[in-house]
Amino acid sequence: MIKKYYSSENYSVANTIVVNGLKELIFLLLFAFEGTTYLVRPSWVSYEEQLKILNKPYKSIITKMENNFKLTPELLELNLGNEKNKLLILNNPTNPTGAVYSKEELKKIAEICKKNNIIVFADEIYLDLTFERDYTESFSKYYQKHFAVVDIELDGLLLLQN
Ligand SMILES: Cc1ncc(COP(=O)(O)O)c(C=O)c1O
Repeated sequence: MIKKYYSSENYSVANTIVVNGLKELIFLLLFAFEGTTYLVRPSWVSYEEQLKILNKPYKSIITKMENNFKLTPELLELNLGNEKNKLLILNNPTNPTGAVYSKEELKKIAEICKKNNIIVFADEIYLDLTFERDYTESFSKYYQKHFAVVDIELDGLLLLQN
């Protein structure tokens, strides 16, 4: 599975965990992270509820219908605060909007993340449920500082790269 998605040599069994259900994994991730989490809205319902349960600070980035409810580099820059630790949850393909980010869009978002030292949690459990798989890509291809979750069957593979 790691080979299928991640060609980088940096990934190994030693920096991978497999858990029983993605919801639990996200909860653990949010529990462990100290800083502000950025949610791209509309978003999958549980991110916000988990942050509330954990009493962790978060900010919403409201996307627009004109942009097919996608995060744009401009929108991201506009919404960023000056917190030391920032975590962006980027869900692609997106539940509930169905938005799918192109490779170019992901590259541009990655540039902003790099510039602002943002950690990205790439929730990509629907990555293989696209009509045109070549249209998009795992965010990890463009950005090293991320956590990624892939594969709906395995349901909870977390790769952590620093
Ligand atoms: C975007 C997204 N992430 C995570 C999950 C959670 O998956 P699980 O059912 O494995 O807890 C879901 C489930 O609907 C989802 O839509």
